[in-house]
Amino acid sequence: MLDQGAPPHHDTSATPTSPGPAARLMRRKPVERLVAEGGQGEGGSLRRSLGLWQLTMISIGATLGTGIFVVLGEAVPKAGPAVTLSFVIAGLTALFSALSYAELAGTIPVAGSSYSYAYATMGELIAWICGWCLVLEYGVSVAAVAVGWGEYLNELLDGTIGVTLPAALSAPPGDGGVFNLPALIVVLLAMTFLLGGARESARANTVMVVVKIAALVLFCAIGVQGFRSGNYEHFMPLGMAGVSAAGATLFFSYIGFDAASTAGEEAKNAQRDLPRAIMLSLVIVTVLYVLVAAVAVGAKPWRTFTDSEASLAQIMTDVTGQSFWGTLLAFCAVVAIASVVLTVLYGQTRVLFAMSRDGLVPKVFSKVHPKTGAPRANTLIVSLFCGVLAAAIPLGQLADATSIGTLFAFALVNVAVVVLRRTRPDMRRTFRVPLSPVLPALGFGFCVWMMGSLSTVTWVVFGVWMAVGLVFYFVYGQRHSRLAAPDPSEVRTHQK
Ligand code: ALA
Repeated sequence: MLDQGAPPHHDTSATPTSPGPAARLMRRKPVERLVAEGGQGEGGSLRRSLGLWQLTMISIGATLGTGIFVVLGEAVPKAGPAVTLSFVIAGLTALFSALSYAELAGTIPVAGSSYSYAYATMGELIAWICGWCLVLEYGVSVAAVAVGWGEYLNELLDGTIGVTLPAALSAPPGDGGVFNLPALIVVLLAMTFLLGGARESARANTVMVVVKIAALVLFCAIGVQGFRSGNYEHFMPLGMAGVSAAGATLFFSYIGFDAASTAGEEAKNAQRDLPRAIMLSLVIVTVLYVLVAAVAVGAKPWRTFTDSEASLAQIMTDVTGQSFWGTLLAFCAVVAIASVVLTVLYGQTRVLFAMSRDGLVPKVFSKVHPKTGAPRANTLIVSLFCGVLAAAIPLGQLADATSIGTLFAFALVNVAVVVLRRTRPDMRRTFRVPLSPVLPALGFGFCVWMMGSLSTVTWVVFGVWMAVGLVFYFVYGQRHSRLAAPDPSEVRTHQK
């Protein structure tokens, strides 16, 4: 149905005659055109400067953060020591989708990630919906993560110099404050790196990722000394229901592995390295998560975990009897979460870059600065938007909605991989999902199942978000879509 019986290399949508409303919604962007336009922005190009190592670091940077340092504390009371299993379940959900991402990132290596994959396979409307979901996954989650960063910073300041910021300056109106200054500061810091270009940002990110991995390894080395096998006696105290509830909560900790796929136009060898970076980052992160969780529940009875406490830092202090180690871990967490802000903000700018090049959002988002090769105006607008969102709006349910937006985008990627296999079996694929369409179908199923376990309020927020997005599409995107303009080659053919 989606292929419309068209020859694979032919742009069926850009015809000189005006297509009907349904055809406009279904118009697809040919993969060759997506790839050929790669890198090009208004007045300049993005630079190909990232290798496999940096791409992997981008994905780990975007993934490893609040989930393990903060959300673990919320998940343990739900699952008990079996939280280790919850990490495996959440990791499996991510794995199926990661396989699909890896195949598409290697086949269509462009900045738009799942938005572009949807444009090539399911048409403009679905692509728009996907892009709009990515704004939830990236833009809104930057704001949510920046708020978490501020909380950790406050704990660090308290632990080191005994000072905490007044509530007025560390929470938004409605949450007992006036303005969340730390949240704004971390977004502006990330913006400064991004304005310097992808290579500079990737360098800073690499340093931060090394710090966070070292911190978690150190945690395991110290935490294991406090290991008591008795803490594992009741492995699954709340049954399988508890394990899967904790798994749904912990899915948040895997969000971000797809970030490398937004660097498709800045990778030196995108087709080879993107699939590898995505899979490598997921494996590294999963191993770390399971190890850290296993040590944490071995060192601290599961009933004593609470969601308000910085559990890992507490364990370090308890096991060593010295607050220095806990403070050191809190410092590393501050660095770790800052790198999530940096890389997720990066991803958001690149997705908007691709959407702008397609005409679906204003052109200003695809203007590239000639010196740095960074989309400057785009970076400024997105950073200010996310910074103010984090600082001045009580995010509440909007933050929960990031998971639903992410799962929706992941579900679409699982569909896209199967569609592209059927419509373009001829394309060169540097990575292939094994057992397709079984594994993509499982990936799709897992995403839908997880979406179903989210609260009604989250669904309502998601519905409102989608409605706003659709209004924007019909008022602006559809009219400015570059696919709406006749393809110059077709016009020439027509005139002959
Ligand atoms: N996965 C990211 C984190 O845990 C969003 O912070």
